[in-house]
Amino acid sequence: MAEPPGRPAPLIRFEGVTKSFGAARAVAGVDLDIAQGEFFCLLGPSGCGKTTLMRTLAGFETPDSGRILLDGADLAGVPAHRRPVNMMFQSYALFPHMSVEANIAFGLRQDGVPRAEIAERVAAIVRTVQIQGLEKRRPHQLSGGQKQRVALARALVKRPLVLLLDEPLAALDRKLREDTRFELKELQARLGLTFLMVTHDQDEAMAMADRIGVMEKGRLVQVGAPAEVYETPATRGVAAFVGDSTLIEGVAGAFDGAAARLRVRAALGASSPEFVVAAREAPAEGSAVTLALRPEKLRLWTEPPEAGTPNVLEAEVWDLGYLGDKTLVRLRLPGGGTVRVSRLNASRRPEAGLSAHQRAWIGFDPADAVLLTR
Ligand SMILES: Nc1ncnc2c1ncn2[C@@H]1O[C@H](COP(=O)(O)OP(=O)(O)O)[C@@H](O)[C@H]1O
Ligand SMILES: [Mg+2]
Repeated sequence: MAEPPGRPAPLIRFEGVTKSFGAARAVAGVDLDIAQGEFFCLLGPSGCGKTTLMRTLAGFETPDSGRILLDGADLAGVPAHRRPVNMMFQSYALFPHMSVEANIAFGLRQDGVPRAEIAERVAAIVRTVQIQGLEKRRPHQLSGGQKQRVALARALVKRPLVLLLDEPLAALDRKLREDTRFELKELQARLGLTFLMVTHDQDEAMAMADRIGVMEKGRLVQVGAPAEVYETPATRGVAAFVGDSTLIEGVAGAFDGAAARLRVRAALGASSPEFVVAAREAPAEGSAVTLALRPEKLRLWTEPPEAGTPNVLEAEVWDLGYLGDKTLVRLRLPGGGTVRVSRLNASRRPEAGLSAHQRAWIGFDPADAVLLTR
């Protein structure tokens, strides 16, 4: 296929890849290009097909239809061990009876790499992932973080073109997980390798990926840089899954083309207010739309705001969730729904003057709501 000028051919190309297990369709018609050197992350809820898609690239699953190209060559018929792709498994899958060194060297031994070269490459990768001194230990003598590094070393020592990481940090505790994110990202950049990672953790995807592909029920529903996916979610599912959003159903009103604003009648019961939101193009008047409101982009007042302030809703404070760095305020809307507003605790007097069951007013700037039609 001809590439548009100025854009390098992708290293990995999925073309209409579909895979079912019996009647269940795990992956449904995925098209995706990943560039050399990219850190790409597949994100989505458990069971949406992330691992299955990754396994088709590794050669552990055969697509029912579609093609996968690596560096322009069709991988159909190439067995897993012949693909220049290595997978780091979610469970690490270390051999319990082998030392760290032997675990790392295993793949090279199988490939018949000469002894001296194996020793050299193992020593180098041990330094790269910083596990010097652990070479003689067995997996059960390692912490979770050390096991993760051994698994990483074992995958990297074979010098794959692409490293596949399936929930690589899931087994680590929170603090270690966050530190390891930066380490992995730094390692990927330093080695200039292409990483394809699978995670259900949106923070992890946002912190590490150059681009994120969000999957929903086997389909790839949106691909973009983290900020793009977060700020401009393409579907209700993405808005709800990536970060936190309050979704408010409504009906599209007239579109003011000049100001590129759309009126939306909210479906919030008897006293339904009308909102004004920024929109690039308007859905048909009268059609169902959803507003996605991010907690950090909502304003909160304890007195009615100035007359003329757009998009104001009166609500009742339901509860306050103090999270240290911020407080998450949940409010009940007139129609019975809830809305979440987060407030940064920039001083040590969090939420002075705010308490449960008091009246409050929330509001948002027309440009800060996302209008969803899918
Ligand atoms: N080997 C298999 N046999 C039958 N069903 C499978 C198999 N592998 C995955 N599935 C099913 O395919 C769907 C996608 O699974 P998976 O790719 O593991 O999702 P994820 O990695 O996003 O959690 C799930 O419904 C899962 O139960
Ligand atoms: Mg999985």
